Amino acid sequence: MQRIFVKGIKGGIGSTSVVANLACVLKKSDVDVIAIDLDAKSDLGLHFGLKWTSTKGWSNESNFEDALLHFRKDSDGVLFLPFGDNEVTLEDIVSTVNNCKKLDYKASSWLLFDCPDHINISHYPLEEKDIVIELVTCDAICHSLIYKRLQTLKTAESTWKHFFVVNRYNSASVLEFDLFSLWQSTLPFMAPFFINSDEVIKEATANRNVALNCAPYSVANDDFETLAGWLVSRAAL
Ligand SMILES: Nc1ncnc2c1ncn2[C@@H]1O[C@H](COP(=O)(O)OP(=O)(O)OP(=O)(O)O)[C@@H](O)[C@H]1O
Ligand SMILES: [Mg+2]
Repeated sequence: MQRIFVKGIKGGIGSTSVVANLACVLKKSDVDVIAIDLDAKSDLGLHFGLKWTSTKGWSNESNFEDALLHFRKDSDGVLFLPFGDNEVTLEDIVSTVNNCKKLDYKASSWLLFDCPDHINISHYPLEEKDIVIELVTCDAICHSLIYKRLQTLKTAESTWKHFFVVNRYNSASVLEFDLFSLWQSTLPFMAPFFINSDEVIKEATANRNVALNCAPYSVANDDFETLAGWLVSRAAL
């Protein structure tokens, strides 16, 4: 099983949208995908057709066996586990990540975690095979945050595979072009592509769905296919 942890380097960068869209693209290529919402905002399910009035999830249960009852399958066959609406501690989140290892999955399955931006990635029980995608946008704040993160990654002696992926890239912006070029040429761990800013992602979410189903020929869907293919190649290393 390949575990992917997706988090924004700051809030609102697109981790939930990326997990949902990536999950569906992987599923369409015949990979079994399980998506777990680790964020108390509990909005991952909205991309998979879950009604906003459906508020319960793993956080509402005191043990993982009961939490399993909250698993849902979307119309594409992606299994997902909503967060719910109960308060949890960091320990609860860590134990949910660990408990997911008990799921009855195929060795070829992919397990995607939507991680809140405020929990430091080194607090998760990460293993060598795990891939962490830290989403960034091409702006000065992320520029500074990436450098700080590189410092902490050095001291954490990270053994997992850590990558920065640019989301919401605006190709009309000279500043974004310059920053992306600078990062590509000077920083380690930068993915060699970006996910464009595309209204299709917002429109798909408004339909409680993903780009693949709402606009299969969109730039956004092409970008998620690129991301999925690139992750498959990283996982194989
Ligand atoms: N590539 C993109 N192009 C256009 N809009 C995007 C893109 N990615 C995400 N968005 C939009 O950005 C907003 C925030 O996205 P999302 O909720 O996925 O971010 P998040 O990192 O999970 O936020 P939070 O920190 O609140 O959990 C949403 O309106 C979403 O539709
Ligand atoms: Mg989110």
